[in-house]
Amino acid sequence: MKIKENISLLPYNTFRMDVCAKVYAEYESVDELRRLLAQYRGERILCIGQGSNLLFTGDFDGVVLRSQMVRARALGENGDEVYIEADGGLVLDELIDQVTDMGMSGLENLSYIPGTVGASAVQNVGAYGVEAKDVIVSVKAVSIATGEERIFTNEECRFGYRDSIFKNELQGQYVIVAVTYRLYKHGALCLEYKGLEGARTAAEVRERVIAIRRTKLPEVSELGSAGSFFKNPVIPVEQYQCLAARYPDMPHYEVANGVKVPAAWLIEQTGWKGKTLGGAAVYDKQPLVLVNATGHAQPDDIIRLAQAICDAVQAQFAISISPEVNYIA
Ligand code: EPU
Repeated sequence: MKIKENISLLPYNTFRMDVCAKVYAEYESVDELRRLLAQYRGERILCIGQGSNLLFTGDFDGVVLRSQMVRARALGENGDEVYIEADGGLVLDELIDQVTDMGMSGLENLSYIPGTVGASAVQNVGAYGVEAKDVIVSVKAVSIATGEERIFTNEECRFGYRDSIFKNELQGQYVIVAVTYRLYKHGALCLEYKGLEGARTAAEVRERVIAIRRTKLPEVSELGSAGSFFKNPVIPVEQYQCLAARYPDMPHYEVANGVKVPAAWLIEQTGWKGKTLGGAAVYDKQPLVLVNATGHAQPDDIIRLAQAICDAVQAQFAISISPEVNYIA
């Protein structure tokens, strides 16, 4: 167990915001986690993984907890299925590397997404036609208030697009300590996304996904960012039809509750792609991503840039786009 007071969170968030936390603590077991929760009961608690999907808007007047539990184990098999339980603190991409190496499929499309196993369940991360919810069987979590363990089935997690119960009703109430996935020894691959067609193995899909991501998205080790900053909005069919008359080239995907329009395209139309505001910028290869361009951007630079983009999209298209990144006040 490691506890530090009044330290900079710069190494613990991929946006590289230099804000301060009252307490920062790491735990190596569920027992240590319970001890920390008991010690700091009543304080504001924030659990972070790699800090790759959050924006600290200022100093954090509470306790930041980070897991050092990073193992994975096979729980059993059922025909072609293999059940793997991974600790919440394990980096998701390290898990994917291990399981694809062993020939298992199911997670390979999520390769190279920053973040931990625990965060991937909170956020229901997704890419190239697969979402975490497609392979998650259950989530093991510890209550912040009582220290008790609870298992959430996939259904109980109420997964949605970059969404789960842990971001809504139960926000700030549980720490995810492990996630169980259902993977396959010879499972079908999901190759519907452009660039993946014809791949024969999970390892090959992983290689291609990594290559695609490297061309479109910044390496967080080189340029601070939090991946996609905005969610892709879903608009009513009637609104889409009106817009399509004005913008015949507007990319779109039909979904259950309307039409999904790529936020990247909307932002590019507004002229914000590649633009800067203070130390923050809109990434020039993928405008859905905001970056800490100078390395010294302040939270306010990112907040103002995000707001200016939302306002511009609203003014031009009457579409409200919202952040995927979690703002931590
Ligand atoms: N586009 C533009 N201009 C650009 C870039 C893209 O107009 O400069 C348009 C294109 O029409 C393109 C469309 O945007 O077809 C969609 O782009 P892309 O397929 O690259 O993906 P995305 O919708 O921008 C989503 C996820 C990503 C995920 C990719 C791949 C969200 C918010 N983002 O991005 O997830 O990797 O699909 O599946 O859903 C993340 O969540 O952090 C993330 C990176």
